[in-house]
This record gives sequence, structure tokens and C-alpha cells, in this order.
Amino acid sequence: MSYELILFEVNDHIATLTINRPDKLNALNDAVMAELSSAVDEITARDDIAGVIVTGAGKAFVAGADIGELSKQGPFDGKARSVRGQNVLRRLETCGKPVIAAVNGFALGGGCELAMACHLRVASEKAKFGQPEVKLGICPGFGGTQRLPRLVGKGRALDLIMSGRMIGADEAFQMGLVNKVVPPDELLQETEKMLRSIVAMGPLAIRLSIEAIDSGCDMSLDEGLLLEANHFGLLAATDDMREGMGAFLEKRDPEFTGK
Ligand code: COA
Repeated sequence: MSYELILFEVNDHIATLTINRPDKLNALNDAVMAELSSAVDEITARDDIAGVIVTGAGKAFVAGADIGELSKQGPFDGKARSVRGQNVLRRLETCGKPVIAAVNGFALGGGCELAMACHLRVASEKAKFGQPEVKLGICPGFGGTQRLPRLVGKGRALDLIMSGRMIGADEAFQMGLVNKVVPPDELLQETEKMLRSIVAMGPLAIRLSIEAIDSGCDMSLDEGLLLEANHFGLLAATDDMREGMGAFLEKRDPEFTGK
């Protein structure tokens, strides 16, 4: 598949998806969202992709949804745009492979929401986060009101969303929005290092761990525990479990096959 507004490269099982509209700070217009949707399909379908890095070209990660397009929307196409965006991000979050956002600069509105739909976030010291939608007379529409409180707690999410204020990488790290902060010139290298250490684990174990956390956090404790036990049992049927434990007992590195 060829793309015009994103760059999509696969190198040794790691896909790097770069939003590439730097003159507009990578603002997510409908065309970018359509390409992102196709890229998510490709990520999900391709067996040669084990993990994904999402980043932005130039000085921004993503400075939000495209305000020029939003300014023309009415209530029904506005809702449809929100639902479409939510679906793309949800499909990325549930693609079954680990996804890390390498946040190089502004991650505002839809950009912060895109980063939150990734499983982990590594931020450059220069990154800025925020949900400034209320300044435009709208609320977040790509999942921000739901993922932000789940990540940082209701009080902090209300503060960020009602104030619309921008925060730096250190504050984002302190509140749990970001997993790691690194110097700008080390961002992609550190993100890839983190991702490669994850994809070296059993892929089925990673997939089912993500699923248990993703679904389990919205269940009762008993339902979540049952889900975890089911996944734990299911993994006992895999070659990966035999390989992982065999390798430990034989004092060697495991070679997982994802089977
Ligand atoms: N939608 C559409 N265009 C956007 C955009 C967005 N969300 N964010 C930035 N751009 C465009 C600007 O209009 C400008 O285009 P132009 O050169 O054709 O005028 C270009 O990107 C560069 O942005 P600029 O504002 O000049 O950069 P800056 O460094 O002075 O400011 C920001 C950076 C991020 C503070 C500022 O662009 C901003 O506030 N953007 C909107 C953030 C937002 O509200 N996001 C949520 C949207 S729901």
C-alpha cells in the first residue's frame, strides 16, 4: 500500500509509522486518518510486523485534529468524524502487537489521544502534551475523555481537559502519562530499544497480557481475574511457554515462534 501523508517503514520486524504533514504540525485531517486506518489494517495483517513505533515528522508529534476541517462540521458529520477517529485509534490499540508512541514534539488534542492509544509513550524532553479542545469550544473527540482519566486519574484528567493547558514531558512523566523521557536526539533509538526488548518476549504472552489489561481494567475484579486465569491457561497450550520455560531450565536464551 502506498501512502502520501504518512511514512510507513518496516525494518527487521519493527514498523515505524510517521505522520508526515509537518507544514501543518501533522494535524490529523480526514485524509491522514484514512491513511492511518489503512496502516492499522496493514499492521494487524502482516506477520512480518512484530511491533510498531508511532511518531511525527518535524517539530510536532501531532498538533491535533485539523481545525480547518473541524470548523466546517455540523452535529452529524462531527459525530461521525469522532466515531471514525475513535475506531481507528481503538483498532491500533487492539492490533495485538505492542505499539509505542515516540513523542517528538507537540502532542495536542488528537495527538495526545493518538499517543494515549499506543501502549507506551516515550517522550523527547521537548515534547508538550495537552487537550486544548475547550479553547475551541469543543471537547476531546478521539477518546481523550476516556483514556486520559484511565491513565492519570479522574482529577488530573479533569484539570488538563478543563484548563486546556499544555504540559511538558517531565510533568507528563510525573503524572503517568509518559513512561520515559529522553533527550531529543535519542528518542527514536531509545523507543526502538524499548520495543525490541518487548518483541523479544513471547509474542502470544505479550498479546494476551495487553488484552487482559485492556479489557480487565473495565471489568469487576472477579471478572478480570477470571480473564487473566483463562489467558494464563491458554498460554500453557503454546510452544512459546514450553520454549520459554525450557530455555530457563537449560540456561539458554529462548527463541519464541509465536505458536
Ligand atoms: N489544525 C490545523 N492546522 C494546524 C493545527 C491544527 N490542529 N495546528 C497547527 N496547524 C497549522 C497552523 O495553522 C500553521 O499553518 P500555516 O503555516 O498555514 O498558518 C502551521 O500548522 C504551523 O503552526 P503555528 O501555529 O504557526 O506554529 P506555532 O509553533 O506558532 O504554534 C501550536 C504551535 C501547536 C501551539 C499551535 O499551532 C496550536 O495551538 N495549534 C492548535 C492546537 C490545538 O488546538 N489542537 C487541538 C485541535 S482539536
